[in-house]
Amino acid sequence: MNVVKLDMNEMPYAPPQHVIVAAGKGLSDLNRYADAQGLRQLRELLAEYAGVSEHHVVLSPGSDFLLREIIHAFSRERQVVTVSPSFLPTVQIADRFAPKRLGIRLSPPDFGLDPDLLISALEPLSLVIIDNPNNPTGQILLDRGLVATIAERQETLVVVDEAYFEFSGVTCAQLVTDHPNLCVVRTLDKAFGLAGARVGYAIAGEVFLNALSSFYVSLPQTSLYAATEALQNSGYMRRNVSRIVRERERLWQALRTLGACVYPSNANFLLLKAQVPDMAQRLRELDVWVSDMSNQLPLGYIRVSVGTREENKMFATRYNQVVCGS
Ligand SMILES: Cc1ncc(COP(=O)(O)O)c(C=O)c1O
Repeated sequence: MNVVKLDMNEMPYAPPQHVIVAAGKGLSDLNRYADAQGLRQLRELLAEYAGVSEHHVVLSPGSDFLLREIIHAFSRERQVVTVSPSFLPTVQIADRFAPKRLGIRLSPPDFGLDPDLLISALEPLSLVIIDNPNNPTGQILLDRGLVATIAERQETLVVVDEAYFEFSGVTCAQLVTDHPNLCVVRTLDKAFGLAGARVGYAIAGEVFLNALSSFYVSLPQTSLYAATEALQNSGYMRRNVSRIVRERERLWQALRTLGACVYPSNANFLLLKAQVPDMAQRLRELDVWVSDMSNQLPLGYIRVSVGTREENKMFATRYNQVVCGS
C-alpha cells in the first residue's frame, strides 16, 4: 500500500507541466551556475508579487535557511521572542545560538496571542520571530497594526514568517518600506508546490538587508527556472490554494463529525487533539503519516496536512479506525 504523506505541510498536487518543463531546462544546464541576470529577474518577479521594490528582496535556498541566518546575525546580544508552539527549527536554532529565548505560550481553546502580553515581554533589545499563520495551530497571530506598533520600537527587530501567506491572504510585506527593522520571510515551497526546488525569499527592511546581503545567494538552475516560470504563470497556484482551502473545510467538518477536537486553520494543515494519545504512531502503522506535536504540545496533539480528496478520506477513515479500535 502507498503511504499517505500528510506530515510536512506540502502541496499534494504536482506542479503543472509548464513548470516541470522549465525545471527540465535547468537540468540540461546542470554544468552551469545560475546566471546573475536570471537571479535578478526572479527577484523582480518576487518584488512585483509582494508589492515592494526589488531592492527589498533577498533569495534563499528555502526559507528555513533565511531564518537561521537571521538568528545567527542578530541573536547574540538580543533576547529572541517566539511563540510556543511554533515552527520547530526556529525554536531549536534560537535555543542553540541565542543566549536567551522567550516562548510566549499559545493555549487552547483558540491558541491566540495576547498583544499586550507580547509587547510587555519585549526587552529593549529583542528579536521577535513569529509565524503568521502559526505552525502548528494555523492561527493568525498578528495583524498589520500590531506589527507596525512593535516595529515602531526602533531597537526591536521583527521577523514575520509568512510561509503560509497564500492560504491566509494576510500579509505585512508592504510595511518593510517604512520599517527598516521589519523582515517578512516567505517561501515558494508550499503554495507554489515547489518543496523539491527549495526557493525561499525575504522581503527585508534596511537593517536586515545590511546583514543578509552580505552573503550572496545563488540557486540551482532547476530551482531558478521552475520558480521563474511559476511566478510568471501563477494561475495554477491560485487554483491549487482554492482547492486546498475547500478540502480543509471539508476535512475539518468530517473530523468534527467523527467527534475529533479539531481547530480552525488559516493554513494548509489542521491541528487536532486526538482522543488517542499515541495517534500519530498508530496512524503510521496504518501507512498514514501525520506530525506528532508532543514535542511542543501535550500528548495527543497531531498536525495533519490537507491532502487530496482521496488522501483526506483515507486519513479520516484510518483516524476513525484507531479511535474505534482503542
Ligand atoms: C512556519 C514555517 N516557516 C518556514 C518553513 C520552512 O519552509 P521552507 O524551508 O521549505 O521554505 C516552514 C516549513 O514547514 C514552516 O512551517
